[in-house]
Amino acid sequence: MSMTGVLRPGHCLLRVLDMEAAVKHYTEIIGLDITGRDDKGRVYLKAWDELDHHSIILREADIPGCDFIAFKVDSKATLERLAKDVEKFGCIVNYLPAGELMETGERVRFQIPTGHHVELYAEKKQVGNGLGNVNPGPWPDGLHGMQPPRMDHWQIHGIELPGSVELFTKVLGFGWTERVKDDNTLMAAFLSCSTKPHDIAFIKDFELQDRFHHVAFYLNTWEEVLRAADIIGKKNVSLDIGPTRHGITRGQTIYFFDPSGNRNEVFSGGYMYYPDMPTIEWTMDELGRAIFYPIRELNERFLTVMT
Ligand SMILES: [Fe+2]
Repeated sequence: MSMTGVLRPGHCLLRVLDMEAAVKHYTEIIGLDITGRDDKGRVYLKAWDELDHHSIILREADIPGCDFIAFKVDSKATLERLAKDVEKFGCIVNYLPAGELMETGERVRFQIPTGHHVELYAEKKQVGNGLGNVNPGPWPDGLHGMQPPRMDHWQIHGIELPGSVELFTKVLGFGWTERVKDDNTLMAAFLSCSTKPHDIAFIKDFELQDRFHHVAFYLNTWEEVLRAADIIGKKNVSLDIGPTRHGITRGQTIYFFDPSGNRNEVFSGGYMYYPDMPTIEWTMDELGRAIFYPIRELNERFLTVMT
């Protein structure tokens, strides 16, 4: 947990072009479960081991992408305190009332220096993982698709990288696990509010703000990543790259696209982070190895396709 009470990535709202195709992808391919639909036509989903009501929200729209990402904090007092701190930092803060999203309490929304909309919230109905809290089994019956236990992290791109990193590290209390620098320019920052090697990744964009690169789902093992690759092959899912391993985070990974063009990742492994760990540095001449360790080069699609 971060020093200031941010618990974890909680939810994100993805824009999709065709709701039926998107729901089929996130349920049958990824393996999420639908937990609700609201009167605005939004569909709510969760991974099997997430206890809260939802982590992914889908909204039909004309262009794909991500409206906002949200982190859960440990209490309403923390929410109030961080809202004031974020305002003091210079962001305009908006309050969304409880119930605007299904089963979710009040949310605090602000635009960060890279142009993305970020939310904090303290309350969401716990619906459980189907195993109960007394003598639970290791996994529930009826798992399907890639079977991730949870949504894991996001990668987002924008111009004003130092500002967003300062907000996340100095105000929200994230630890800085890894960075890529090109002389004095910060090219990438990997930040954690937990013991994960990253809960969010920021990448420098020289032209555009508010770009969304991917949402990642956690898998328990490298074998499960390979099985996810089998599903991608079997079901004709649009592949980006992998299976392979990252230098940064040491995670094992495969990237692919939902039917609207939003990039997904399934990710396993990675080291355990504690706040006393020095930030790991990568240099630009080793960028290929940093991102895809054995391949040692980046594919054009990975660098340029964003929503
Ligand atoms: Fe990722």
